[in-house]
Amino acid sequence: MEPGRIRLNKHLSQTGTASRRTADELIRQGRVTVNGRVVTELGTRIDPATDQVKVDARRVRTADARRYLLLNKPRGVVSTRSDPQRRTTIVDVLARAGITGYFYPVGRLDFDTEGLLLVTNDGEFAEVVAHPRHGVERTYEAQVAGVPDTRDLDRLRRGVLIDGRRTRPADVRLLRVVRTRQGDEAVLSITIHEGRNRQVRHMCDAIAHPVERLRRTRIGPVEDRRLRPGQVRDLRPQEVRALVGEDRAAPSTRRRRRTSAV
Ligand code: URA
Repeated sequence: MEPGRIRLNKHLSQTGTASRRTADELIRQGRVTVNGRVVTELGTRIDPATDQVKVDARRVRTADARRYLLLNKPRGVVSTRSDPQRRTTIVDVLARAGITGYFYPVGRLDFDTEGLLLVTNDGEFAEVVAHPRHGVERTYEAQVAGVPDTRDLDRLRRGVLIDGRRTRPADVRLLRVVRTRQGDEAVLSITIHEGRNRQVRHMCDAIAHPVERLRRTRIGPVEDRRLRPGQVRDLRPQEVRALVGEDRAAPSTRRRRRTSAV
């Protein structure tokens, strides 16, 4: 199977045109064209980025299909769309999961950090969720060299100086101590409410317990312990709503114009 190609009925349901079952019906009835040719084969696959799909001669507009994805970024992947050093990017991870199109990350994770990353094609959503004013908190599991004592943990909680500026109060817990060949290491849960560059690593450096391993486990209301590194899933509508604030409609619902072909 070619990466990026998805079943036509899935495309029609993802764009909000019809349910998969209705889409199959439309295809069977000869009402769907791909690049100008009628398609009646149910298993037909298309590339939503390049193929032009019409239902009853009306264009199914991919741009209207806002998607909100949760990706578990593996270590050794850059969270940008392209990389001058040609390292693996999140676009490669998405393509392996059969997802193509113009998606970009909401914020960043370092090359060496693994864990949850939101990816979307909805610029307004990305802006709202990433904006510090919105204060979406993020939780990390940081495995650090040595075992910080109570005083160290309190310093992290109260804030440490990074580049002359104090970090905002954080929630910090010691989860467990693990024995490694290099000696004892502590696994900390650290929840921060801002997103400065390499913040968790700098915070742990400031208490002289450098990070050995870093994983993001929660973004605001969104967590998923079952999503393995490299896996991607769509956010549930209630997760999207919770991320932008219960009191506000998701950006997409304010301005999405669905194709009303059926
Ligand atoms: N803090 C870091 O140090 N790295 C990340 O990737 C995210 C937060």
